[in-house]
Formats: sequence, structure tokens, C-alpha cells
Amino acid sequence: MAAPPPVKNLSLTLLLLMLFVCSCLALADHRPSEFSIVGYSEDDLTSHDKLIELFERFMAKYKKAYSSFEEKLKRFEVFKDNLNHIDDQNKKVSSYWLGLNEFADLTHDEFKSTYLGLSPARRNSGDDSGDEDGGVFRYDDVDVSSLPKEVDWRKKNAVTDVKNQGQCGSCWAFSTVAAVEGINAIVTGNLTSLSEQELIDCSTDGNNGCNGGLMDYAFSYIAANGGLHTEESYPYLMEEGTCRRSSSEGDDDEPAAAAVTISGYEDVPRNNEQALIKALAHQPVSVAIEASGRNFQFYSGGVFDGPCGTRLDHGVTAVGYGTATKGHDYIIVKNSWGSHWGEKGYIRMRRGTSKHEGLCGINKMASYPTKNA
Ligand SMILES: *[C@@H]1O[C@H](CO)[C@@H](O)[C@H](O)[C@H]1NC(C)=O
Repeated sequence: MAAPPPVKNLSLTLLLLMLFVCSCLALADHRPSEFSIVGYSEDDLTSHDKLIELFERFMAKYKKAYSSFEEKLKRFEVFKDNLNHIDDQNKKVSSYWLGLNEFADLTHDEFKSTYLGLSPARRNSGDDSGDEDGGVFRYDDVDVSSLPKEVDWRKKNAVTDVKNQGQCGSCWAFSTVAAVEGINAIVTGNLTSLSEQELIDCSTDGNNGCNGGLMDYAFSYIAANGGLHTEESYPYLMEEGTCRRSSSEGDDDEPAAAAVTISGYEDVPRNNEQALIKALAHQPVSVAIEASGRNFQFYSGGVFDGPCGTRLDHGVTAVGYGTATKGHDYIIVKNSWGSHWGEKGYIRMRRGTSKHEGLCGINKMASYPTKNA
């Protein structure tokens, strides 16, 4: 924020403060959140003592412990650099804002190498035209004018709580599972949290555990192997393990019969936002995006509108769409970075950008599981 002019009395200070708060509220839905950098003065960002205080509070809030004093110093430097980035960007962007979160002690490279995990091998890459566009798209005939203005599958009890992939490039498994949980809830009325770990351990044909994968390969695995177990019976380990389902009957280690089945999956026609919205009006949809932009690391709220490219590196799940108060159309996206990131673990991403790939390439590689009633 710009350095405030020297003020001579308290009431003027208060007035300025109120003006500042009000203009922020007008700018975005409700901009400052607890522990956001928004609201800190220039002083806070230049005074060494204030910065140390801020860092200590950050460490306490996210239960950070560093192995040595040197490490702590190093992390403090990274933290300050991130803080400057957040402050700088918050002055430039208007429809969303950045804030400190648990990733604030990671350099951007560290972050990118740890928390993503999409390997768009066979599908996508954008250059080849691909052959999937000839596939079945069951929502093709849907009349766009008949679609609701907004859809939020969270409100229809079709979305489980936000999960956390942690330091494992398993986003593809989380994206897959959220879409399967969604169609299962819609078809059966039973919202059950399902196992990402099973996909990491067992869906190895095309997928690579903590080193990346693709949602379509995972859908294919679930359809071909009799379904997916519950999260409870096959919990997340944040690392690759041995597949606990065997073809032989009676394996002691094998969890009970798979809980949820799907019939198959379909791809949303590429680079076609209207098709994505048609599908999304009917069920949560797995989407791939480029999430390696630095602002993604610190997204804290609002309708995100970049900057980002379209080189897909992260799998997430679209769970709705709508229009914000300022008229920005968005897609609601469930991420797998825990509930402290973004809007309680979600990000609203701008749609209707006129780029056919969509913001961060979100229209490029969408797909969804199918399930017969
Ligand atoms: C929902 O599905 C899960 C997994 O199949 C099952 O354990 C649970 O009993 C079901 N709940 C209801 C209310 O049917």
C-alpha cells in the first residue's frame, strides 16, 4: 500500500483507515483476511523488527520448525522475498488478492517441484490436434440457454472436504477422486470420500504416483478394476506404496470390496468453454491447468485472472460456476493444497476470457467419469 501521508491527529488517522478499508471492500468481495498482507503498512514491510514478528507469527500459525538456525535464516529471506512479491502484486491486480499462507517460506521453484503433478503425456500438450475430440460427449445436445446461471455442487452435497496432497505430485489422483465422488453422490445420493492412495499405488498404467499422472488413465483404471475403495479403508500416505488390492482372493491386507464404481469416462471437447459449462452443470469435472505461476502459490481470494500460461501442470476439479458481484464470470475449482490455501481450499477462476484455451488452459483437457444409475 502507498505510504500514508504524515497525520497529525488520531481521528484523521482513523478516517483514513476507514476510507482505506471501505475502498478495499468495494474493490473485491471482502479483501483483507486475517494474516493477509493487505492491511500492513509500508512500515511493516521495511522494519526489520516487524518483519521478524510477522515471520514468527507465520511460523507459529503453520507450526513451522526449522532444523537449524541457518535454515531459519534462509527461510526468513525467502519469506521476505515472498512478502514483497505479495505486496507488489496486490497493488497491481484488482479482482483477486494474494496473502501469506503455509507456502510463504518456499521459493517458487521449490513450490513448483513439490505441489503439482500432472504429466500431460498422451493427451493435450496443445500442439497436436489429438484424437479425443471425436469421442462421445453426452452433454453435446444440452441447450445452453436452459442452463442455470450458477451451479455449486458443494451446496448439493456432491463435494467432500478439501484434501491435501502434501509433498507428492499426486494432484491427478485428487482431481480424479473428486470427480468420482461427485458423480457417485449425484447418482446414488451417497457422498463418500474415496481413496487417492489406491490410485497412486495401483493405477500405474500411464500414471507415475507422486511423480505425476493423468486423470483419464485413473478413470480408466477405476472403470476396469471394479471401482475404488473409500478413503477410510485405503487412507492417504503422501508417498507411493504397494498396491493393496490383488487379483487373488483372501489377501489379508486387501481392504473390503471396492465401494464405488463408475461406468467409464468421457472427454469434454477441447478448448470449448461452453462444452465445459454444459458438463459442469451436470457434474463435477476434472480439469487441468497451469498452476505454476507465482501468484497461484499465494492466491488468497477473489476471481483469479492470471497471469498464467496454458502449459498444463496441475490437475484439479471444477465444481461449479457463477458470476461475481463485479460481473466477472468464474469457474469454482477445488484444489488439493489443504483448506488454508485460497478460499478455504478453492479458487474462483475467471471464465469468458475470449482465449479459447481458457484461463490457465482450463478448457484444454477436461474430462468426467460416467456412472449408470
Ligand atoms: C455410502 O456408501 C458407503 C461406501 O459404499 C457405505 O459404506 C455407506 O454405508 C453408504 N451410506 C449410505 C447411507 O448408504
